Amino acid sequence: MTKLIFDCDPGVDDAVALFMAFAAPQDLELLAITTVAGNVGAELTARNAALIRQIAGRQDVPIYAGASGPLYRPPFDAGAFHGESGLGTLPLFEPEHGLADGRAADVIAGLVMSHPPGEITLAVTGPFTNLALAMRLEPAIIERLGPVVVMGGARREGGNITASAEYNIWADPHAAEIVFSSGAQCVVMGLDVTHQVRSDPARTAAIAAIDTPAARATHNLLEFSNALERDIVGGTGAPIHDPCVIAYLLAPELFTLRPCQLQVETASPLTVGHTAVEFRLRDPAAARILWATHADADGVFALLNDLLAR
Ligand code: BDR
Ligand code: CA
Repeated sequence: MTKLIFDCDPGVDDAVALFMAFAAPQDLELLAITTVAGNVGAELTARNAALIRQIAGRQDVPIYAGASGPLYRPPFDAGAFHGESGLGTLPLFEPEHGLADGRAADVIAGLVMSHPPGEITLAVTGPFTNLALAMRLEPAIIERLGPVVVMGGARREGGNITASAEYNIWADPHAAEIVFSSGAQCVVMGLDVTHQVRSDPARTAAIAAIDTPAARATHNLLEFSNALERDIVGGTGAPIHDPCVIAYLLAPELFTLRPCQLQVETASPLTVGHTAVEFRLRDPAAARILWATHADADGVFALLNDLLAR
């Protein structure tokens, strides 16, 4: 059983990842959800997490709000890809249950310090601000953390927010650099792998056929992203980025990983947020960062459908 803190910025694809995590209580013990400003502002990402939690019927999982902006850079949301609310065209409501008391970085530091070393896994699907703040607050968490599984970065694929940077890293490159250079064991789902996992028409139709509240909401979210993909990129089937993180935690055999060194560009105005990934290592077995190169997309969607049907 994985004890998980899920740090996110919902966000259309974060919401789908949340549905997956909520549906797998026998595999993931969700200790806390922490939210951060990213795709939309901090108040909305926290509200959206609570709204998704209510649809999933998982009020038992506490949600803690976190950073309202990056460490140093000005906030820049991705509302163009997630809609004004952050949840595309999903019908909105005010969640019955509110947020838990406490700030995300304190909660992350507190939970990691109060559990045995290696016991807590972290999933990060937004800018890395909360985790970087927790590491600053309590540096001892670095050696007590279990795996940190993140969505962020790009190598072969180029960027999605600029020519050379992926959004989560670009939004707070200093936080990402703190996390990647900390020595924590990181598994990285970048665009190279998430662009292989697309909600094409057949996969989206299969979700439409599942009659649960989570499946109906997921179908709505995917259709929103698919329409943008069609209009902006001219492509069929938007990538589902953040669900790859939860899919990896539940079924790591669906992904191929490669040890690497990873550095984040934090200075150059042109390439800020770029992830420099180096595979040529003297001692690959000692690498602390594993970069995902390949995903079994059919396997990821089979898992998603199975979870949405529960
Ligand atoms: C990442 O950026 C966000 O817009 C998505 O939610 C995802 O986490 C993809 O680059
Ligand atoms: Ca996200």
